[in-house]
Amino acid sequence: MALAPVLSRYWDEPHSWTLDAYLRHDGYQGLRKALAGTADDVIATIKDAGLRGRGGAGFPTGLKWSFIPQGDNKPHYLVVNADESEPGTCKDMPLMMATPHTLVEGVIIAAYAIRAAKAFIYVRGEVVPVLRRLQTAVSEAYAAGYLGRDIQGSGFDLDLVVHAGAGAYICGEETALLDSLEGRRGQPRLRPPFPAVAGLYACPTVVNNVESIASVPAIIQNGPEWFKSMGTEKSPGFTLYSLSGHVTTPGQYEAPLGITLRELLGYAGGVRAGHTLKFWTPGGSSTPIFTDEHLDVPLDYEGVGAAGSMLGTKALQIFDDTTCIVRAVLRWTEFYAHESCGKCTPCREGTYWLVQILRRLESGGGTESDLTKLLDISDTILGKSFCALGDGATSPIMSSLKYFRDEYLMHFDQDGCPFDPARSVLAT
Ligand code: NAI
Ligand code: SF4
Repeated sequence: MALAPVLSRYWDEPHSWTLDAYLRHDGYQGLRKALAGTADDVIATIKDAGLRGRGGAGFPTGLKWSFIPQGDNKPHYLVVNADESEPGTCKDMPLMMATPHTLVEGVIIAAYAIRAAKAFIYVRGEVVPVLRRLQTAVSEAYAAGYLGRDIQGSGFDLDLVVHAGAGAYICGEETALLDSLEGRRGQPRLRPPFPAVAGLYACPTVVNNVESIASVPAIIQNGPEWFKSMGTEKSPGFTLYSLSGHVTTPGQYEAPLGITLRELLGYAGGVRAGHTLKFWTPGGSSTPIFTDEHLDVPLDYEGVGAAGSMLGTKALQIFDDTTCIVRAVLRWTEFYAHESCGKCTPCREGTYWLVQILRRLESGGGTESDLTKLLDISDTILGKSFCALGDGATSPIMSSLKYFRDEYLMHFDQDGCPFDPARSVLAT
């Protein structure tokens, strides 16, 4: 399968982030077309294209927009989730750095579709260069009449605010993000009601990922059939795959959904010279890991799901034969324990105890019964936590025990890590 650069097609050009560069590449033509039709036309086009949310869950974007009530008196809001924080996930930040106007144009079209007069982009506060670039793009869009009152003479008004979060992974969970945006401590809300019914300030709200919204202008401009000519029947279109870790040329690879890791590694120069693939994540650390058995799994929602994992954020983290699986899983679990918001007991207490046991195992002090404890605690968290963070924390543990139980056993058989620390994942 060939790569399909749409979002990333001119990322390498000088000053690709400016309005001038965007206009040279048909920028804001999708908006022009959208404003010439009705809001319902836009929703119908996105529904017909079959665009699925690129933040991880793959929920149909057009369907989500259609949940926003018609003819009510409440304000509607569009919120872009740019709080990209999943380990290995690094597609939205480069997109916002290279072509922020793609996102701004997508925001205006989406807000028009759901009849919102106010939109927010919620960005991680630590990524100051991204914040600055977005703010510059938003200012350029206001000055050129793409934002503000009576956009391009259409009668449609929209204000767009770039909001800096404070760097908590949980604020990527859509309802915690909304609490944070409202000025409260970011912790997940009970769903339902989903944000489409009661979101920001209890009003109908669409929360979409950056890549989902940035894909909208090209779909409106080129039509749903063009979009569906790429990808698979149930997972149509192009998407950004982020390859990181032990790969010769890490980076963003934009390709049709359904491409395999074997094909992507072909473009990325393969696993680093002299080494072989040991394990990988299809979609960040919250998805069960895969091994070399899974190199030909189609990287779409159905293919990855059928093979026992989740496509998630399409963050393909590659680990070669020098990596200690216990150490890698420990690092991920420490992340979840640190980022657990503390609202529910299974996740707050469970992730803490998972870390204690994994640390003991990694240093060679564990016993075989610790492996049973890891699975018992994971079972107490999985499906019993308040939000997806808890479930995500159990994925690397349960899947690594499925594929690499012997390596866990080796740690206490040999009184320590069988890998030379100088060659382990953390030392390279
Ligand atoms: P979800 O499947 O519960 O919801 C997905 C979206 O569909 C949400 O916007 C939700 O409001 C909407 N939705 C679902 N059912 C609905 C209904 N009946 N009515 C109205 N709207 C409905 O998934 P969730 O918990 O929002 O996200 C989990 C995903 O997030 C995971 O797959 C994970 O890969 C990803 N993730 C991404 C991160 C990142 O940095 N981009 C970080 C952590 C997780
Ligand atoms: Fe907070 Fe974890 Fe419970 Fe989610 S699962 S609400 S992050 S404690």
